Amino acid sequence: MIQIVDLHKSFNGKPVLRGIDLEIRDGETLVILGMSGTGKSVLLKHIMRLFKPDRGKIYIDGVEITHLPKKDIYEIRKSFGYVFQEPALFDSMTVYENIALPLKEHGFQEEKIKEKVKWSLQMVALEDVEDKFPDELSGGMRKRVGVARAIVQMPKYLIYDEPTTGLDPVTADKINDLMIFLNDELKITSIVVTHDIRSALRIADRLVLIHEGKIVVDTPVETVWENDDPVLKEFLKTVKK
Ligand SMILES: Nc1ncnc2c1ncn2[C@@H]1O[C@H](COP(=O)(O)OP(=O)(O)O)[C@@H](O)[C@H]1O
Ligand SMILES: [Mg+2]
Repeated sequence: MIQIVDLHKSFNGKPVLRGIDLEIRDGETLVILGMSGTGKSVLLKHIMRLFKPDRGKIYIDGVEITHLPKKDIYEIRKSFGYVFQEPALFDSMTVYENIALPLKEHGFQEEKIKEKVKWSLQMVALEDVEDKFPDELSGGMRKRVGVARAIVQMPKYLIYDEPTTGLDPVTADKINDLMIFLNDELKITSIVVTHDIRSALRIADRLVLIHEGKIVVDTPVETVWENDDPVLKEFLKTVKK
């Protein structure tokens, strides 16, 4: 479980997060929705301890991480996999080498690495791509490789930052289905940041909306249409019930 308590963060005197309280439960798919520039990525970066808050606390499985020394942060980060909008694959490496990279860094033996890479490619439904280079793949396939790399160490938490932004609707839905599949199959806790309401409604167990630095909506996805928040309504206007 992840608990975020009264999280505040400003940049150059400009407040971005203004008291975020949020609990992320094991096994759920939580979608964090919000307009561009509201601090969604900043929030994720606090969970990964890439940023330190000005005020507030973050607990990962009961461990308060805002003041942890570097070596302990490294331990905590092992329980996370990250999928970014741009998968940031190394163009000079094959798909296999890209996915194997974190495993090599952790000193796994070649046989074990082969097994794990094969497994993670199966999980994201990619075949016969091990020897290809990223620029030989479509956008959707590159995204899958990014997901394969994120899950190869079996993280407890999988964080997605705008996973469907920039994809066409058909490809986006394939990635949505993949996120649902991984959450079911691997019992991974998924934290998905997006401004794509369509995608949010499809994958979320629970949805929170950040607006002006605070969480203004926190709802199970089933009751989203009953919510009165004006910003949420603006988002919902763009999709059919
Ligand atoms: N490293 C940084 N230094 C200064 N300002 C930042 C930094 N990272 C983010 N910000 C600012 O914080 C605000 C929220 O950014 P971000 O979390 O990226 O928004 P989004 O909700 O679109 O992900 C923006 O105004 C952005 O300019
Ligand atoms: Mg962002």
